[in-house]
Amino acid sequence: MKVAVIGTGYVGLVTAAILADFGNQVVGVDIDEEKIKTLQKGQTPFYEPGLSDLLLRNQGARRLIFTIDYSQAIPPAEVIFICVGTPSNERGEADLNYVFSAAKSLAPFLTEKAVVVIKSTVPPGTHLEVKKIIDKLTEVKYYLASVPEFLREGSALEDTLRPDRVIIGTDNKYAQKVLLDLHRPINGKRILTDVVSAQLIKYAANSFLASKISYANEIARLCDVYGADVMQVMEGVGEDKRIGKAFLHPGIGYGGSCFPKDVKAILAFAKKKEVELAVIAGAHRTNTTQVNYFIEKIKKHLGNLQNKKIGVLGLAFKGNTDDIRQSRALVLIKKLLEEKAEVYAYDPLAATSVKKFFPELRINYASNWQQVAKQAEALIIATEWNEFKELDLEELKRISQVKYIFDGRNILNPAKVKLAGFHYVGLGR
Ligand code: UDX
Repeated sequence: MKVAVIGTGYVGLVTAAILADFGNQVVGVDIDEEKIKTLQKGQTPFYEPGLSDLLLRNQGARRLIFTIDYSQAIPPAEVIFICVGTPSNERGEADLNYVFSAAKSLAPFLTEKAVVVIKSTVPPGTHLEVKKIIDKLTEVKYYLASVPEFLREGSALEDTLRPDRVIIGTDNKYAQKVLLDLHRPINGKRILTDVVSAQLIKYAANSFLASKISYANEIARLCDVYGADVMQVMEGVGEDKRIGKAFLHPGIGYGGSCFPKDVKAILAFAKKKEVELAVIAGAHRTNTTQVNYFIEKIKKHLGNLQNKKIGVLGLAFKGNTDDIRQSRALVLIKKLLEEKAEVYAYDPLAATSVKKFFPELRINYASNWQQVAKQAEALIIATEWNEFKELDLEELKRISQVKYIFDGRNILNPAKVKLAGFHYVGLGR
């Protein structure tokens, strides 16, 4: 099949690469000329395991090309995916300008029976706005659909190839058939819905997962005051199949490009229709106070943080990515700096982005955890990187003056840490 993918961020690039790998002819389009040049040179603009090889293989086979030219990408396409960003605006709503502008740009080049698929996360009803825009610019018969994406950064390829489900939201039988055909090589249950339901599934799923995390974080606070171990509690809770074990891992909160933005957006579009979402509002509130809660715990042990040398392990919003969008590690560091602490930090991948986008943060960067430890009197684990899970405690003891380990991701074994002669402080344990 001939496919165009508009937007070459995480969702767009992964979608384009995988569809090309199935043998489809795919054109990736973006307004960002620099990004397209990078891709044309065979480079990947961000880190995602396996993506670079997949892109190169399919570019080499000429099944995948990149352009800024809509007049090249759209006319041959039987299916067009809109995969542009929908960031939060100042009111917490999804900013739909990129979606509308993509619709405007593609409309003049649409050909008969093209299926336009909105993959960007958009509030229910957005397709009606998109339809208005396209209808003004073309006479051809086309179809609209919504196929939301559930990929996680760090496992984006696997999540796209083997998702739990593929949601195909369209009110048109022909478009449904085309999309079922296109998704045939992908595993996972097919769920056929109308467009609005597909759009809402995405927000409902993300806000549920975010609520699970905040729920675990609230129970962790309760465990702190009662002296229970939240990891045992969550194991006991998660074994109930109706609840499930995933996304019950306590920490300093959720970040990233999706959960914070989508939670705010669902609250905003519910409010517009005067629907109260108390559970989701609570989840959001808990997430925004979780870093403060952790800082207060740290201060109970260290007292005033002024001039204290604090080492922070992790800057990315989670492990296995260089993405720092809405990273809780950065929220934590900003607060430490406000408290006038001296901050030393290391991340396996994300330091370059922090230096570039937050040059005002007075962080002393290190190129490994040992360099951080040598400077610090206390260590904070802020991101759940694998390499921090088995921190060499003997080496830490040997090379540093560190006395406290504050585990903001509950990834260390407290008994081992204590045995090695450190004070261990996690969340709810
Ligand atoms: C998420 C969704 O999982 C994905 O389905 C959606 O399409 C996009 O948003 P992603 O942003 O890549 O994916 O990250 P995810 O792995 O879900 O983690 C989000 C945040 O929650 C991270 O900051 C992570 O540290 C935190 N988290 C996750 C927890 O604190 N506890 C958990 O148990 C799980």
